[in-house]
Amino acid sequence: MFKHTFLVLKNLIKLNKYFVRYKYHFILGILFVTLHNLFKVFIPEYVKESFTSIEILFKSISSTYSGTVPESVKEQTLDVLKVKGLWMLGFALASGFFLFLTRQTIIVMSRLIENDLKNDIYKHLQSLNLAFYKKNNTGDVVARMSEDVGKVRMYLGPAVMYGINMITSTVATIYFMFQSNVELAIYSLLPMPLLSFSIFYISRKIENYSTELQENLSDLSTTAQESFAGIRVVKSFGKEKEITQKFTDNSLAFKAKSMQLTKIQGLFQPLMTGLIGISITLVVFVGSNKVMNNELSVGSIAQFILYIINLTWPFTAIGWVTSIVQRAEASQARLNELFDNKNEITSEKSLQPALQGSVSFENVDFVYPDTGIVALKNISFDIEAGKSLGILGSTGSGKSSIAALALRMYDTSSGKIRIDGVDIKDYDPQYLKRSIGYVPQDVFLFSDTIKNNIAFGVDNALQKDIEQVAQMADVHQNIIDFPSQYETMLGERGITLSGGQKQRVSIARALLKDPKILILDDCLSAVDTKTEHNILNNLKDVLKARTSIVISHRVSSVKLTDKIIVLDKGEVVEVGTHDDLLKSNGVYKTIYEKQLSQELV
Ligand SMILES: Nc1ncnc2c1ncn2[C@@H]1O[C@H](COP(=O)(O)OP(=O)(O)OP(=O)(O)O)[C@@H](O)[C@H]1O
Ligand SMILES: [Mg+2]
Repeated sequence: MFKHTFLVLKNLIKLNKYFVRYKYHFILGILFVTLHNLFKVFIPEYVKESFTSIEILFKSISSTYSGTVPESVKEQTLDVLKVKGLWMLGFALASGFFLFLTRQTIIVMSRLIENDLKNDIYKHLQSLNLAFYKKNNTGDVVARMSEDVGKVRMYLGPAVMYGINMITSTVATIYFMFQSNVELAIYSLLPMPLLSFSIFYISRKIENYSTELQENLSDLSTTAQESFAGIRVVKSFGKEKEITQKFTDNSLAFKAKSMQLTKIQGLFQPLMTGLIGISITLVVFVGSNKVMNNELSVGSIAQFILYIINLTWPFTAIGWVTSIVQRAEASQARLNELFDNKNEITSEKSLQPALQGSVSFENVDFVYPDTGIVALKNISFDIEAGKSLGILGSTGSGKSSIAALALRMYDTSSGKIRIDGVDIKDYDPQYLKRSIGYVPQDVFLFSDTIKNNIAFGVDNALQKDIEQVAQMADVHQNIIDFPSQYETMLGERGITLSGGQKQRVSIARALLKDPKILILDDCLSAVDTKTEHNILNNLKDVLKARTSIVISHRVSSVKLTDKIIVLDKGEVVEVGTHDDLLKSNGVYKTIYEKQLSQELV
């Protein structure tokens, strides 16, 4: 059982580098815990000696004074007891003090490592490419980070501390026991293996039941939550009875589990007390016989009772420490798996030249690596530096995929993408992303001030520049209407912007970088045509000064661009200017007319 546990620690081995990093905490911790146990283990010896002093006193009473003890003898004995008492007090205080220092070193070390581990994970997560995030749901990743790190910390701190404590205290106590009396030592240790085995077994059970109980509880709350969140549906379908029945069933299952847990928990304390009781009884029984035969002093019995009490905690802790270690091992296995994910988007040359801004796609095919969905087929186009390209297409036609490839969030399956004639794989990936202004389709704003949200991509941005880009994005007026203006908090603790306002803040953010290449991915979808017109008008000059790719499913957004490509199911079906495309009477014209009739254009 234990062998199994300790053999499979190959995942936790990865944490050893952190122990090395905090070696002074670790070594001092071991020293302190050893001192704590040494001081503790002296106490029973002194208890025995105190008893012995009284024993001597009694013996002298019965042999010499026949009943009455002179004050002088009493005082002498009391003096001896006082000294012993002071020593014991000193040992207890020293032992406690070193326990305190142990916590200050080992538990502090575990908190420091926890912090490093979190930072390492965070850094690693930031370095991973989007493909990782598509495969793994973000909630999972965050849960992993906090839950698994928490469990690993339990190993680094409490398990290591109690583990070392367990070993030093057991070794010291057993050594002193055998030093004092071999036979009593054997008798008092006899029930201990049974004790630690049953405690291991019971704590295992308690843990399994607790996990199951947790699952039952989450079922129960999901049922409750859903039934109230969806109360309209429940009522309109007349399903109240069924849903109540489901809740009752879940609740009964929960009750049954918690009963099981309570029963086994109830067993824990009595079992421990019982087994320790057996040890003590054995010591008292065997010891008293020896006392009667004058082979042992009464004090030794008291001494051994204290030793047994000293051993109780380490033996109880075995089960607990083992299960912490097992959980930590499982958590660390998951963390290691996370660390094994590497970002393949790297560059050998890592060029960082100043960009002019011409972009070309040459026969680009793209299949999403995780799902196998064919997103783009044989896409080719050129944009000269400073010109604009419109990409029009229905939903799912591959527009956003083109943007993702241009930013090198993914690598093409085949074909080449060049910027200023250089393969984008030769640019430093971070530099590339920093140089391109990108307004993603799904806007994300941080729970921070509007100002900081706009300034996200630029260090030390000036207020006047921030206001200027906000004006270009036609959101300045909205912002200054808020009481705190640019300092207005967004998100959970602040206000919620409308969809259109968010998009415009996101545009301002991309503009602030003053990029040579700007990609706007459907970023005007949530504004009405009038606002769209305003923004595009404001942006006219901005777009002129750089290469821009405007992605939309609305003709109104792309009609002003120098060249438009029309995408359908991942393929380019038409290319030309707005006027060319209207003349050619193709798909573009059909879309245009349809949108015109819906007053979208
Ligand atoms: N991250 C992804 N992983 C796997 N498949 C994806 C991913 N993103 C998009 N796809 C798929 O690739 C195809 C093209 O999607 P894309 O997002 O490029 O379309 P779009 O033209 O931008 O659509 P919309 O107008 O709705 O934004 C779709 O079939 C889509 O399901
Ligand atoms: Mg899209």
